[in-house]
Amino acid sequence: MIAAQPRSRILGTGRYTPARVLHNTDLEKIVDTSDSWITERTGIRRRHIAADGELTSDMATAAGRSALAAAGISAADLDMIIVGTISGDSPLPACAVHVQQKLGAWEIPAFDISAACAGFVYGLTIADQFITNGAACRVLVIGVELLSRILNWKDRTTCVLFGDGAGAVVLGPASGDGRGIVSTRIFSDGALAGSLVIPGGGTSEPLTVDGIERSRDKVHMVGQDIFKVAVKNLSSASLIALEGAGMTAADLDWVVAHQANLRIISQVAARLSLPLEKFVLNIEEYGNTSSASIPIALDEAVRDGRIKPGHNVLFCALGAGISWGASVVRM
Ligand code: UT7
Repeated sequence: MIAAQPRSRILGTGRYTPARVLHNTDLEKIVDTSDSWITERTGIRRRHIAADGELTSDMATAAGRSALAAAGISAADLDMIIVGTISGDSPLPACAVHVQQKLGAWEIPAFDISAACAGFVYGLTIADQFITNGAACRVLVIGVELLSRILNWKDRTTCVLFGDGAGAVVLGPASGDGRGIVSTRIFSDGALAGSLVIPGGGTSEPLTVDGIERSRDKVHMVGQDIFKVAVKNLSSASLIALEGAGMTAADLDWVVAHQANLRIISQVAARLSLPLEKFVLNIEEYGNTSSASIPIALDEAVRDGRIKPGHNVLFCALGAGISWGASVVRM
């Protein structure tokens, strides 16, 4: 099979995670749960929570600055900012315009992607298209979530799972040495739209006092529905992206999967016939940070030297929508 030639490549990575840490044992005091339940069912031990007054756009900007510095460019060099988030500063305008303003990247397109946990893979795929078409040269792609403010802290089925944080990459044109985004694929299936929702606050259910009392403005999830489809779809999307790259799973050096549940990741590893040691894991530390989870884990592994230039890395993510996707990148 002829290997695909990348058109865009990752020039730098960055992340920001809030300092405040909430341990499973802290949650035992808030809801009817236990450290052992959370650890055994999910792999999560801690999650980072944004400080009071800290904004989604603050975290996104910090991660963006870190990625720009790693890429060796300034905000003025950017042609576009794409932010994957479902927890922006406000429903209107896009979180990305606040990031643009805070970075000082004037008069370039800046927009949000609403693909939940798949937001980063969606953003990467869109950025790759703009660069491939020649319509943009340097694109900042950020995954950021401040989920702690849209969780129902009385609902043990959701509040123990999620955390806050931001990760980012700067994409630029590939230089013909084979490094870059080799293949990337995105998918959605609205049949499971009701399994992971914030039901209130939109046009179908404008918020009322009663709605707020019933936490209709907070995350609701039927975890089992998502779990089953996550294992199947993450595996199939990964195989499709690998096929597009002219590779098999055996060619991969690392997999950076969305960190929703260690059991999901383990089952995907088994389906791809890969050892868990090939997966970058940080769910223990951050929980599920939705669109931020892949770029945070990527940045950690790049900076600590696990992921090296030339390594073949697979990203895969699935979340509300349901929306999912996978990318193969030669770093
Ligand atoms: O990132 C976005 C996409 N989201 C995901 O990928 C999440 C996918 N789903 C999951 O990861 C898992 O389904 C969960 C971690 C959400 C739940 O794990 P599970 O093994 O599927 O548990 P379950 O929902 O089947 O619940 C089992 C039991 C229930 O009690 P009963 O009915 O058996 O008595 C729950 O009420 O565990 C109970 N339970 C809890 N117990 C202690 C649910 N949450 C908790 C909790 N602490 N926090």
